[in-house]
Amino acid sequence: MSLFRLDASIRSEGSVSREVADTVEQSWRAEHPDAPVRRRDLGLAPLPATAWRDAVTGSRTPAGQRSPEQTAAVALAGSLVDELAAADAYLFAVPLYNFGVPQHLKAWWDVLVTDSRVSADRLLAGRPAVLVAVRGGGYGPGTPREGWDHGTPWLRRVLADVAGLDLEIIEAELTLADVNPAMADLRDLAADSRRAAHADAEQHGRRVAGLVRDAWLARAA
Ligand SMILES: Cc1cc2nc3c(=O)[nH]c(=O)nc-3n(C[C@H](O)[C@H](O)[C@H](O)COP(=O)(O)O)c2cc1C
Repeated sequence: MSLFRLDASIRSEGSVSREVADTVEQSWRAEHPDAPVRRRDLGLAPLPATAWRDAVTGSRTPAGQRSPEQTAAVALAGSLVDELAAADAYLFAVPLYNFGVPQHLKAWWDVLVTDSRVSADRLLAGRPAVLVAVRGGGYGPGTPREGWDHGTPWLRRVLADVAGLDLEIIEAELTLADVNPAMADLRDLAADSRRAAHADAEQHGRRVAGLVRDAWLARAA
């Protein structure tokens, strides 16, 4: 059994999404210490910018007529799907950038869905997943930016509704309060949000690990 972990922060140091995802991973590892964690780090290693165009056009072109770029992009899409399909549980750590998902995560998904296996049959139906959604600002009910987070609803749509994952979402907000003087009054709230996210991460990591263990035991029985 294995955990697939995807990171999308462009930061390797000081990243809150990575930090909270580490807590989920540790909690998973407590149950499955020897299970592999397969990683895809889109923040540090984005897919080539042309991959989506070549995968879309290549997937609509007979194999023998594809350009070398299309052939490579179709193979890349297939390998991304294989990577996902091979896992038992999923962890996505995703910051909000410009009120949406990171563009390299959007590119990853767009390449992925050129492979008909993803949308055709809810490839990952029922498998447990955790999304760590991290935002620099605050988007709660009644705040001026309520409704401006277009990243989390989209992620829920594609991961849960299209891919079929059993998705839990952990949110940490106001991460910019520590570095933005204009948000100094929000530092306590930011600390609360981060603490709560780690507590949720611990709990959801354990939950996902337990679900995978139970599924394996049921299959073995
Ligand atoms: C280019 C860029 C754009 C950002 N856009 C937003 C935004 O639209 N809304 C927001 O709340 N935070 C925004 N942020 C702040 C990040 O969401 C925040 O710093 C978050 O903690 C980043 O994740 P990380 O800590 O895992 O690196 C942006 C940060 C960067 C670098």
